[in-house]
Amino acid sequence: MKHEDLEKNMGIMGVLIVLVISVAGLVEILPLFFQTQVIEPAPNVRPYTPLELVGRDVYVREGCYNCHSQMIRPFVSETARYGAYSTAGESVYDYPFQWGSKRTGPDLARIGGRYTDDWHYAHLMDPRSVVQESNMPGFPWLAENTVDTDLLKTKVEVMRKLGVPYEEGVEDDLSAVEGKTEMEALIAYLQMLGTNVKK
Ligand code: HEC
Repeated sequence: MKHEDLEKNMGIMGVLIVLVISVAGLVEILPLFFQTQVIEPAPNVRPYTPLELVGRDVYVREGCYNCHSQMIRPFVSETARYGAYSTAGESVYDYPFQWGSKRTGPDLARIGGRYTDDWHYAHLMDPRSVVQESNMPGFPWLAENTVDTDLLKTKVEVMRKLGVPYEEGVEDDLSAVEGKTEMEALIAYLQMLGTNVKK
């Protein structure tokens, strides 16, 4: 059969396209399920504390990922601005991961420790109070909502089921979470981002 006949026959062409994409997809995707570099935590990476876990859920609920990525690409322009590039081993305890690609605001993968808690508080209440030209919305209600501790037990259990090695009983010690606001939980989460991979 000549190449021209192949291209003009939609049926055969369609089957061949599906075949090529399937095989190429498998070759790219399958090895990722077995490479230790991808499925093992990077050195120093630990599961989130219960407070950070709550903060992470607030981050997801409020849609912070719509404007912020958490993945630094391996280019000088990125590493000079944000720090060491992201690796898969950093995200093994992230369900769901927050890599993203939409950057209305800066990448947050290494934001932990860059600002004080007070700065984050002021910024989340009213971004323009600290960054005049900011177009980030404020999230003042987070300072009024207290953390729902009833849900925490289930959250930790679900994470365990997904393979996060939480120690027995972490979900029973609520002292670090009790009475905290969602704002405090979110700031705790932001302050740990990237700190476990810095030297
Ligand atoms: C509509 C887009 C948008 C949303 C939604 C958004 N941000 Fe932002 N964010 C920005 C922009 C733009 C900036 C840069 C200006 C500034 O610092 O305020 C920024 C800056 C930041 C910074 C400072 C980063 C740095 O390196 O200086 C933090 C921290 C941050 N955002 C956290 C959050 C969190 C947490 C949420 C969700 C509760 C959120 N943002 C939601 C747009 C957004």
